[in-house]
Amino acid sequence: MGWQVGDLLDAMGVRDRARLVTPAELPRGTGGAGAAFKPETPMQVVTNPATGEALAGVRLDDGESCERAIAGSAEAFVKWRAVPAPVRGQVVRAIGDEFRKHKAALGRLISLEVGKIAAEGQGEVQEVVDIADFAVGLSRQLHGLTMPSERPEHRIMEQWLPLGPVGVISAFNFPCAVWGWNAMLAAVCGDSVLWKPSLLAPLTAIASNAMADRVATGMGHPGVFGLVMGDDEQVGERLIADRRLALISATGSCRMGRRVGEVVARRLGRSLLELGGNNAAIVEPDADLDVAIKSIVFGAVGTAGQRCTTTRRLIVHRSIAEDVIGRLARAYATIKIGDPLGEGVLVGPLISARAVEQFLAAVGAAKSQGGTIVAGGGRAGGEQTHPKGLRGHFAQPTIIRAPASNELAIAKEETFAPILYVFAYSHLDEAIAMNNGVDQGLSSAIFTGGVRSSERFLDPSGAGSDCGLAYVNLGTSGAEIGGAFGGEKDTGGGRESGSDSWKAYMRRQTCTIGFGKTVTLAQGIRFE
Ligand code: UN1
Repeated sequence: MGWQVGDLLDAMGVRDRARLVTPAELPRGTGGAGAAFKPETPMQVVTNPATGEALAGVRLDDGESCERAIAGSAEAFVKWRAVPAPVRGQVVRAIGDEFRKHKAALGRLISLEVGKIAAEGQGEVQEVVDIADFAVGLSRQLHGLTMPSERPEHRIMEQWLPLGPVGVISAFNFPCAVWGWNAMLAAVCGDSVLWKPSLLAPLTAIASNAMADRVATGMGHPGVFGLVMGDDEQVGERLIADRRLALISATGSCRMGRRVGEVVARRLGRSLLELGGNNAAIVEPDADLDVAIKSIVFGAVGTAGQRCTTTRRLIVHRSIAEDVIGRLARAYATIKIGDPLGEGVLVGPLISARAVEQFLAAVGAAKSQGGTIVAGGGRAGGEQTHPKGLRGHFAQPTIIRAPASNELAIAKEETFAPILYVFAYSHLDEAIAMNNGVDQGLSSAIFTGGVRSSERFLDPSGAGSDCGLAYVNLGTSGAEIGGAFGGEKDTGGGRESGSDSWKAYMRRQTCTIGFGKTVTLAQGIRFE
């Protein structure tokens, strides 16, 4: 058999293999067939989470190469910002076309590397295409306001200017879409991008960045899209502390975000944080249960529960709790777990053995705190996978019912796994308080047929959901790129993707122009 990753990179026209080590060259201990390969630089071995097989080795950056990458990004920025925004948009348009063309191959690589099912791997590439389209339009709409001056013969207007090189730190679970949201906007805004992907998903990053870079370079703009890969010490800490990177946009855990926020704030830089979620869906008695159940199942088990927008808590009205739980359990029983590229499979593996341990620990904690397992609760081993006997990191989609007191401490934590905790409520106010009663504030949903309940959830006074995303009759995950994406509280407050999120990637200049022959001071001050 050939080298799967190599074949996919060939299909995408990615020729630069300097960073890559084939499985045949990897030492035996790391899952390869080679005997005594000793890389001089640190290396990451990427394994397929569905099979445990080594996919490739990736050579990482050290301090020196990281420094070169930052300097390169700073240099590229100065040239790139001078290109008119609509012309920058044409480069982004061509990049979007490249992702369109290679959607199948890149989607497949995502499935191999992080275990997303085929439809979700393809969907992720589509997010890059969509945000590229959005950014192309935006490249002609980077509008500032004008406002009347209080002084005669004066004019005030604002303009938006390129900000600087942007450091993008991304997580394994969206190995190219989140970079796309940042990179496509940053590019039309006139910023260069330096990407530090998760070490759990470096192959998707190599392919994605290579495609963007070859298009931009081919159109005369080398260096706009850069890539650095390495551990926190060599690469991560260096990026966040570096004053040349005007904005650090980071997606990942709350712990990582706190560190990024702290270090970037110390140098008074800008950060855009998109951190953990602990998202709930409320089901009112008048909800359309067919819509609700389908949406909840996708929200809770899609991407094997590894989205920041995954539905982790279900808050269901007491009068329909048994019915809803029964229907969910029946739906869970039909879910096929296994090879993410296999026919009809809905749930692939978790990303790592450690993720499975964390899943099991959370289930154990829930049980000891009085939770009752309604579905799943263990590894999905041998006989349960499709095909049977896969040796990957599989977990059973799990439903756990909270005790009658609704006290379940573990449900306040985000465990990146398909666990849905179920709570019952009597009054909507109580349900909204539960929705809001966690540290994170990313996504939230209500299922209801009534305008009163939905409006209470979206209350313009702010008394409803406290999250950045609020859905009515839709699940908590699967946002479109056109809206601003992000959340409050420990989720970090940043907004990426659509709406006016682009403003984070530019600096605003308020310009006041006098065109008269007399000097008038603001606030009526006389200084004569
Ligand atoms: C993430 O998990 O970091 O709304 C992003 C969604 C996707 C993005 C998730 N469009 O579920």
